[in-house]
Amino acid sequence: MISNKKSSKISGFYKMSVSERIEVVKDFSDLTEEDISIFSSSLDIETADRMVENVLGNFELPLGIAVNFIINNKNYIIPMVTEESSVIAAASNAAKIARIKGGFTTECSDPLMIGQLQLLHIDDVAGAAQKIMNHKNEILKIANDQDKILVDLGGGAKDLEVRILDSPLGKMIITHLIVDVRDAMGANAVNTMCEAVAPILEGISGGKIRLKILSNLADKRLVKAKAIFDKDKMGGEKIVDAFIESYTLALIDPYRAATHNKGIMNGIDSVIIATGNDFRAIEAGAHAYAARNGRYTSLTTYYKDNNGNMVGEIELPLAIGIVGGAANIHPKAKLCRKILGIDTAQTLAEVVASLGLAQNFAAVFALSTVGIQKGHMSLHAKNIAIMAGAKADKIDKISEQMIKENNIKLDRAKEILSEIK
Ligand code: MEV
Repeated sequence: MISNKKSSKISGFYKMSVSERIEVVKDFSDLTEEDISIFSSSLDIETADRMVENVLGNFELPLGIAVNFIINNKNYIIPMVTEESSVIAAASNAAKIARIKGGFTTECSDPLMIGQLQLLHIDDVAGAAQKIMNHKNEILKIANDQDKILVDLGGGAKDLEVRILDSPLGKMIITHLIVDVRDAMGANAVNTMCEAVAPILEGISGGKIRLKILSNLADKRLVKAKAIFDKDKMGGEKIVDAFIESYTLALIDPYRAATHNKGIMNGIDSVIIATGNDFRAIEAGAHAYAARNGRYTSLTTYYKDNNGNMVGEIELPLAIGIVGGAANIHPKAKLCRKILGIDTAQTLAEVVASLGLAQNFAAVFALSTVGIQKGHMSLHAKNIAIMAGAKADKIDKISEQMIKENNIKLDRAKEILSEIK
């Protein structure tokens, strides 16, 4: 049962004018007039100047909307910030195929982040590691004293793990402080806790603390998304087989896996940026996770189900928040959250993972069939037709004509437009 009435399946969305699209999004996400004025406004310079140093201005990127998504039985439209053409259209197409079989389903772990404390200059590392574990409760208490609000919300430091690593400098003890960061990305909370417990660890172990910092390999904060892609809509079982052959290269070859995962991040980064999150943290975590078994590989898995349809799955760490940082300061990030209609970081992570899977499916599907240039050219041609002033069905007519003539230029689009007028 779909939980929201308004469908995200919006046909011809790309053919609408910008203001028509804004009206559709306004209606879908119950936006106010004030909300929609934010689409055309720029971040005010005082806010920008407070966010980073040495500010001169703002740097704009296009904000678009991917349509057609059903995730956990709920319709979603997804804001995406990207400079790359075809990405938003590709995600929307993949979501359209996935919704035939019910859309995306997800699973999400608790929002657990890892803070690392590096201890050196210890003779008896095994004994010191044991002593640290014996003081676990005391260490967790000191960590939790740093963030009463987080603890009141049900989060806070939950566990301790100790690893002994060999290094060219001798053995080190790496203590992991496991912190439930609730709806935050968590870097500030975790780093503050790590700094607070560092002297205690030195006292207990007799060693010297060096690094005390969050790990971006957030492998205790994992998200999985899954979808079934209808074989008939894909063009039949032969195409499903071709897809699986293409995908298999990403499993076995890091050269392909890097490109394959880049396609996933095309989707993921764009919604991460739109919601004011740290895309470098997400990238670092995703790629480290892709190499977790000693060889860099695909973040997605594909196989055929008993009916010959294709099942796609993705699993990756997603350290994202809806409170703190740019998520709370940037008006467009707040607006994008409202468009999504999400109110927890976990729901956002589930949307992000689904989008990553959709993006990857779309890229590998195109690569196993027509190649990606056709889609790029067709979108490019449509953009040129729109720039020439074409509206509604004239956009397709002009772009098809230009593709046929292999002459995708603004002048030619204007000519065809005046001919068909
Ligand atoms: C381009 O931005 C992304 C792709 O190269 C991804 C892929 O090859 O799977 C199309």
